[in-house]
Amino acid sequence: MLEGKTALVTGGARGIGRETALLFAAEGARVAVSDLNADGVAETVGMINAAGGQALSIGCDVTVAAEVDAMVKAAVTAFGRLDCAFNNAGIAPYQIGAAGKLTADWPEDAVDRMLDVNLKSVWLCMRAELRQMTQQGGGGSIVNTASIAGLNGLPTSSLYVAAKHGVVGLTKTAAIEYAKDDIRVNSVCPGYIETDMTKDTMARRGDQILAQVPAKRMGKPREIAEMVCWLASDRASFVTGANYNVDGGFVAA
Ligand code: NAI
Repeated sequence: MLEGKTALVTGGARGIGRETALLFAAEGARVAVSDLNADGVAETVGMINAAGGQALSIGCDVTVAAEVDAMVKAAVTAFGRLDCAFNNAGIAPYQIGAAGKLTADWPEDAVDRMLDVNLKSVWLCMRAELRQMTQQGGGGSIVNTASIAGLNGLPTSSLYVAAKHGVVGLTKTAAIEYAKDDIRVNSVCPGYIETDMTKDTMARRGDQILAQVPAKRMGKPREIAEMVCWLASDRASFVTGANYNVDGGFVAA
């Protein structure tokens, strides 16, 4: 599906990002895998290379503009151009001391951090990618990781929800602006997926959550990767500005 393409994945050290980097490579792309966690990203690249793919590891904190610009530059230096980008790095409320907090109880520093990591970073990545894609010509495909929290409200996750709604808004607007350049911009909205990110939440209230999922199970990272891979590929050539939920029916219920 991605034969001859070059791709960039953020948050590729584990979870949805790792699985998507592996699938991109299996479908023929050369993949630049990026994350804050250098060991994890090296492991992902090792897995791709061991399977006969071609990958490059890039350490990057997606909240730092200069690092994001350097990340895109490193990918282009290695592969010559950038065709596909998956902006996926993100954090959950419990990782910044905001687990279980109602809207009025979020610490202000957690609010800033959440918006930095889960929203501004997506804009920083898109800025660098869009500049590269418009300059090189020939179009491109950007996929952002939003969430079911980008479509619905979720109690005690208010800034996570706000950031992910923001990602959906960025996606739609950039899609309109860059359609003339043949650059497609879409987002994927995962439901509850089995990754390190959800372990804590599922341990605390997994039964209550699964009761709200028509499929009565969590999703697997590969099930998100499949959607991202399709959106990144030319098979989705008329799809832009769209947000696809992959959620076992959560949003429909
Ligand atoms: P994860 O915690 O397993 O992986 C996230 C990765 O992002 C980690 O490798 C982490 O090091 C990296 N990261 C965090 N902050 C970073 C930064 N400042 N710079 C660079 N890398 C950074 O999480 P998972 O589940 O794979 O989530 C990936 C994306 O999917 C996130 O955006 C998350 O919000 C979203 N998502 C996840 C869902 C789930 O149920 N697991 C549901 C809906 C959305």
